[in-house]
Amino acid sequence: MEAAEKEEISVEDEAVDKNIFRDCNKIAFYRRQKQWLSKKSAYQALLDSVTTDEDSTRFQIINEASKVTLLAEIYGIEGNIFRLKINEETPLKPRFEVPDVLTSKPSTVRLISCSGDTGSLILADGKGGLKCHITANPFKVDLVSEEEVVISINSLGQLYFEHLQILHKQRAAKENEEEASVDTSQENQEDLGLWEEKFGKFVDIKANGPSSIGLDFSLHGFEHLYGIPQHAESHQLKNTGDEDAYRLYNLDVYGYQIYDKMGIYGSVPYLLAHKLGRTIGIFWLNASETLVEINTEPAVEYTLSQMGPVAAKQKVRSRTHVHWMSESGIIDVFLLTGPTPSDVFKQYSYLTGTQAMPPLFSLGYHQCRWNYEDEQDVKAVDAGFDEHDIPYDAMWLDIEHTEGKRYFTWDKKRFPNPKRMQELLRSKKRKLVVISDPHIKIDPDYSVYVKAKDQGFFVKNQEGEDFEGVCWPGLSSYLDFTNPKVREWYSSLFAFPVYQGSTDILFLWNDMNEPSVFRGPEQTMQKNAIHHGNWEHRELHNIYGFYHQMATAEGLIQRSKGKERPFVLTRSFFAGSQKYGAVWTGDNTAEWSYLKISIPMLLTLSITGISFCGADIGGFIGNPETELLVRWYQAGAYQPFFRGHATMNAKRREPWLFGKEHTQLIREAIRERYGLLPYWYSLFYHAHVASQPVMSKWVNFTYTSYNDTQLYFLLGSALLVHPVTEPKATTVDVFLPGSNEVWYDYKTFAHWEGGCTVKIPVALDTIPVFQRGGSVVPIKTTVGKSTGWMAESSYGLRVALSTKGSSVGELYLDDGHSFQYLHQKQFLHRKFSFCSSVLINSSADQRGHYPSKCVVEQILVLGLRKEPSFVTTHSSDGKDQPVAFTYCAKTSSLSLEKLSLNIATDWEVRII
Ligand code: NOJ
Repeated sequence: MEAAEKEEISVEDEAVDKNIFRDCNKIAFYRRQKQWLSKKSAYQALLDSVTTDEDSTRFQIINEASKVTLLAEIYGIEGNIFRLKINEETPLKPRFEVPDVLTSKPSTVRLISCSGDTGSLILADGKGGLKCHITANPFKVDLVSEEEVVISINSLGQLYFEHLQILHKQRAAKENEEEASVDTSQENQEDLGLWEEKFGKFVDIKANGPSSIGLDFSLHGFEHLYGIPQHAESHQLKNTGDEDAYRLYNLDVYGYQIYDKMGIYGSVPYLLAHKLGRTIGIFWLNASETLVEINTEPAVEYTLSQMGPVAAKQKVRSRTHVHWMSESGIIDVFLLTGPTPSDVFKQYSYLTGTQAMPPLFSLGYHQCRWNYEDEQDVKAVDAGFDEHDIPYDAMWLDIEHTEGKRYFTWDKKRFPNPKRMQELLRSKKRKLVVISDPHIKIDPDYSVYVKAKDQGFFVKNQEGEDFEGVCWPGLSSYLDFTNPKVREWYSSLFAFPVYQGSTDILFLWNDMNEPSVFRGPEQTMQKNAIHHGNWEHRELHNIYGFYHQMATAEGLIQRSKGKERPFVLTRSFFAGSQKYGAVWTGDNTAEWSYLKISIPMLLTLSITGISFCGADIGGFIGNPETELLVRWYQAGAYQPFFRGHATMNAKRREPWLFGKEHTQLIREAIRERYGLLPYWYSLFYHAHVASQPVMSKWVNFTYTSYNDTQLYFLLGSALLVHPVTEPKATTVDVFLPGSNEVWYDYKTFAHWEGGCTVKIPVALDTIPVFQRGGSVVPIKTTVGKSTGWMAESSYGLRVALSTKGSSVGELYLDDGHSFQYLHQKQFLHRKFSFCSSVLINSSADQRGHYPSKCVVEQILVLGLRKEPSFVTTHSSDGKDQPVAFTYCAKTSSLSLEKLSLNIATDWEVRII
């Protein structure tokens, strides 16, 4: 190991040092906005300037003090979305607008200007259901649905816009020009950080001066807000008061503190609010450092004097104020008006895309550690899984597999024959995942470095030279993924002939892409580094990792000539990252509290579009006690991305190293995961095509039956999981939502009515999982060495009856790896419905075809109150066949075994 590496690794070995990172009060634009807002200088909309075209309605806004005019544009967007953009009308130079996040130009609907006097303007969408009520002075916008004000914008007067200026000194040189502006009069006030901002030994020189923006939103009747990952915090967003804003700034925070609002690896500037009868979303499209304040006001009477008498009488029980502040860019905000949670998910994915359909293997178990030492080690660990009869799908190699942290290379001593190693894994129907970070070692003999340098593909410093920072390889430069040409080139590096030693079972892991820069300010890149198009890093910091993953995923697609689905795990992310793969929660710690926090963290990611997410099983840092490791496997088996990982100096922790009893427990947890893969895969398909999150807490129920302090979650709408997260637990209090629901214990078949908390006895082998009455869950009846071994194995159906004696469910299947499901419609989408004692297997999507020979071998019906006298199968060719069955009166369950019903054809099972 080189000296530089050793030194840097020890940097990461320390627990989180909060002094490295800034809190709100150390952030200059936050202090400026606070100071200015306390002075209250209102904006006024100049409604005589209104112009309307096909797409939008525009008007000017002016601030009393600065006299600088802003231009507001309001768009109606298909699917009940409003977009508000505010920019300077004539900025000194263009301000940054986030590209590449919106999947396409959103289709607009023409807004009709209905009425309005000189002091107001009312815009309505074609259907008239939604109205946008603009008040001129002070400037305010109310979004009204069915005469109810849902969201008010700028009702607290927190609109803030620092217009671009010429630096005082330059202006003086240009002679006598003098502008009356709040900002210029304060140029010399160091603590406002207008042109220069200090943090510790770092000085951020701002070529464009202050450019921050801010705006407030009042959400009427809403007290339950969620979203804006990533924070190690509760699922429901907390009130921030005045000094504890949620920070969105992608940072490498090793062993991050939990229950903290500081920014960690990724950012999605999008939140949802939920109340009885309506769910809404606010998507703040800005990639610069962002702070969000949330404050709920209890019940108030809210009157709208401009509206008719009906509206004037309306009362709103409570409201929550959301104050967004960003360091730079423009105000570009999308208001998603729901009204149902499912509508909001669709509205958001219409803008940013849906979860990529993962290759099936990636839903299996992943085995990682920093590092698997060499080919021999990989071989031994792989064999260990077979010896102990534990399924797994992918072996992972961390940074040490490379030649001195030069990505796309192999350490010749440790991995002399990477293809041979991959062939071994292939023979076991398994995959390899390797790491590729965005920093590139400065080394004239490293071809990736030389080519990138020659083509000018690195981020630049203020002097126009390649930016240099320290990361794993020592001194490095950073690829400028914001440049489409860099992305194209980077993607080409994954082509099989270019990436020596790679094969088609090799997939990717993108790490350190916040980007992490050791010894940089807050361990990241200076904000005044320069990107493609001459944009400062400050403008786009939060989207750097998004682009890295985008280029990697694209590279994997291209190497297969567009045929194969990629798998790329990323640490840093932004809105829309769901299109490119999976996200994990970074460097957590082997403590019970981190097992607990994984649940709200993953729930939050999932409802903000990123369904494919997970946390390092066991905790990355430190050594979990055996009980914690077992409990973590049990929880992780029911979380979307399922990977065991450990840091360098943690003890080895392959599942069989903790004694027979614990090996058995971990084996069982992993096997449960594999048994449920048909359900997981179907949920991901649902996320992919219908935008519904895989993991959620309240979307199928109202917030009234939801409890944030309880650490349960739902997978789809059929399974509720409440992992054991306490040491030495003998019981778990499980809240089962929905007063009209019935829930069945997945293993004992005991059942409870919803809307109550039940005390479940637990032993070390208990994973509290419950199936909702009314659902059908498809499973595999036998588990193989990996997903690849299970492609042809039989299915089982778990039919849990509702209080009305019915249930529905789905199964999606395809080849598990290619895009043929999309281009050739090679898939099967089946629907199972149970009604009036008949279970029907029918097509859920006639467009899809897939020649599966798989059969349904077992059917379990839960909640059948009466023992049947007869059970028959009825196939589509009209043949009836009696079926042997077992009925258990104690658990009201019916079990049908040894069936042979083809999954792909229509049939019925009749219970008489
Ligand atoms: C930091 C990542 O979070 C961790 O998972 C990884 O093992 C190390 N970097 C080394 O690559």
